Formats: sequence, C-alpha cells, structure tokens
Amino acid sequence: MSVTVAAPAKINLALGVGPLREDGFHALATVYQALSLEDTVTLARDKRSSISVEGRGVDVTGVPRDATNLAWRAAALLGVGSLRIAIDKRIPVAGGLAGGSADAAAVLVGCNALARRPLPQGVLLARAAELGSDVPFAVVGGTALGEGRGQVVTPVPSATFWWVVVPADGGLSTPEVYREYDRLVPEPATPAVGPDLLAALANGDAVALAPLLHNDLQQAALSLRPDLADVITRGEAAGALRGVVSGSGPTTVFLCADEASASAVARALDGVVAHSVEHGARVV
Ligand code: C5P
Repeated sequence: MSVTVAAPAKINLALGVGPLREDGFHALATVYQALSLEDTVTLARDKRSSISVEGRGVDVTGVPRDATNLAWRAAALLGVGSLRIAIDKRIPVAGGLAGGSADAAAVLVGCNALARRPLPQGVLLARAAELGSDVPFAVVGGTALGEGRGQVVTPVPSATFWWVVVPADGGLSTPEVYREYDRLVPEPATPAVGPDLLAALANGDAVALAPLLHNDLQQAALSLRPDLADVITRGEAAGALRGVVSGSGPTTVFLCADEASASAVARALDGVVAHSVEHGARVV
C-alpha cells in the first residue's frame, strides 16, 4: 500500500527575529503562508528503508539520499518500520522556502494516514517540532502566526494572494544567515506581529499588505548575497507591489495585485507564479 502527499512551500510575510535563547534558537514572531508551489512525496512500506529524489525544474544534487534527510528522520521518529520514500521536488532546495520541512511534514502526515491507529494532531505537531522549527507549520499550512522558535503555530484568516517565487543560484545556510544577523544586530528587540498586517490578510488587501511585509533576516541574507537586491528592484519595476527575501533566502518572493500581474513579473524574472493555499501537507 502506498500514499502520496503534497507539501506546500512556505514564505514568511513577517519575520521578526528576537534575542538568541538559551537553547541556541532565536525567539521569533512570524506570519507563515503556504503556497501552491508543492513537493510531492510518495510513501510505501518496503523490506528496507530507502529514499529517492527527483527534481522538477530544481537542482536536487545537494539533497541527501540517506538517514540524514529530514524526511527519513521523520519516518524514524514515528518508528513506522522500513519505508520507501520518493520525493518529487518543485520547491527550490536550501532556498528559504522550507522545502525540507515540507517533505518531513509530508512523511508525518503520510505515515499517519497509513497507520492503523493514527496519532492525534497535538502529538503529531510535537513530533514535527522535534524535527525543525517550521515543520509544525508545514503540517498545519494555510496562514498562521509562528511564535516561540517558530514551532508554536496559530492559524489566522487570510484571503488568497498572488506571488511570484524567484529561485536564486546556490542555496544559503540558515544557521549562517542567523549568525550574520547576530553580527549585524547584536541587541535585537523582542519581536511582535502588528494588527495591521493581520487585518490586510483577512481583508484580502494586497495594496495594504505590501508595505507591511517585513523580514528581519533580509539584511543578513543581502549581506551574504548582495546580488539579490537587484532582483528585488527588477521585480518591483516589473509591476510587483513588493519584493522580499523569503525566510533566510536566497529565494525572493514578490507580492502581486492579481494573477495577470504575477504572470508579467514571473516572465520578467524567470520566476514561478504561485498563490496562497489553505492547507498544509495533505494526502492526494
Ligand atoms: O529548527 P531548524 O532546524 O529549522 O533550524 C535550523 C537552524 O536555524 C538552527 O540550527 C539555528 O541555527 C537557526 N534558527 C534559529 N532560530 C530559530 C530557528 C532557526 O537560530 N528560531
């Protein structure tokens, strides 16, 4: 028996980064949004564990094919026995779109679907948090506040928004971007998400949302990858309401007024049109 799970990419509409905590993570106040750009993960019980990775228009050479892959670790954490995991990747790798977390969430959701006695959602989310700060969001999806180190997820209402996702050559290491942030901002304030942003989301008001998009890691990502500033300038010149670095980068994302505008921006930047979705990892 096999199960196929689709797992959306995530972007951060706001990413406030606070002080370094004692556990080595930073306090976050973020708003996550899941996008229609998805990886597909197929799981089947097998005699021995294995993992295969195919790229659909993305470079997957850096993705581990062994027990160090977060998707494999998700299966091991649930103790479900040996599993064949096949990942079809459309989400750029090491791009700030939480593709690895999406695949891990897909394995959690898929194993739960295969299980005779599925875990309750609360237990599944606790397992997800053990795997990574944004894995719980990848399970829940939609649009949500993220607090703690990002793992405490509270869904918030959002209309549909149109985005263009622009992958960049090479990836950025998340820990390295956080280290650069620590260097640039030695004494960060406690982060919070403002009510204006939540109102713009609920109202579907892209024009109001655009100036409220905010990423504390952007300065650090641009410091490591100065070429991204030019991509943002070009996207906004092509008609995007606003361009920002996604998470720790180097992918940039562009908020657009509607699908037609997103198509024009995607053509100008060789990007991918996507819209927000209301789900997380889900069986298809
Ligand atoms: O939780 P996750 O494994 O995705 O985190 C990857 C790395 O990103 C951490 O090891 C840490 O360096 C950094 N990070 C952080 N604060 C967070 C989330 C991630 O410093 N809240």
